[in-house]
Amino acid sequence: MAETIRILIPEEEVNRRISEIAAQISRDYEGKSIHLICILKGGVFFTCELAKRLTIPVSLDFMSVSSYGGGTVSSGVVKIVKDLDDPLEGKEVLIVEDIIDSGRTLAYLLEILKQRHPAGIRLCTLLDKPERRVKKQVTVDYTCFTIPDEFVVGYGLDYDQKYRNLPYIGVVEQ
Ligand code: IMP
Ligand code: MG
Repeated sequence: MAETIRILIPEEEVNRRISEIAAQISRDYEGKSIHLICILKGGVFFTCELAKRLTIPVSLDFMSVSSYGGGTVSSGVVKIVKDLDDPLEGKEVLIVEDIIDSGRTLAYLLEILKQRHPAGIRLCTLLDKPERRVKKQVTVDYTCFTIPDEFVVGYGLDYDQKYRNLPYIGVVEQ
């Protein structure tokens, strides 16, 4: 409980960038509606802030995933803890994530969700740590901020389930 948080991206900057990305998405999907898939729990703050700023019709669904098994070597297999409520068939799907790190979670998720025949599927993330990418085939369509390889919290991101509610992005310092 001795860690301190250094502000990396202040609240105003996060909100301003979300507004920009929302405007871009609204333009790209003009004349269509969009089905947002929030990846719990980390994606929930970003999903709400993004959804409020979209000017096209929006529907929402939620999915919760966790890395499968223990140990330090990730198999790249992800366990679905809570699946979506609604089918994706014919929908313009946008997956909303807090952060893309190795890309393993999203590489796996994209595989399963594509099998549900959406009209289209794209990826939107609040943060991207490209230096950490293992799954190079994961391409992100909308990124708010590219950050260095540091462990960050806030705006949905946690350290041991703490700090998700911080309204800015911070770096944990011991
Ligand atoms: P990936 O499969 O390695 O891309 O895993 C991404 C997941 O790891 C995110 O959804 C977060 O839950 C978690 N994660 C990765 N980096 C961070 C970080 O800096 N802070 C908090 N959680 C992180
Ligand atoms: Mg997450």
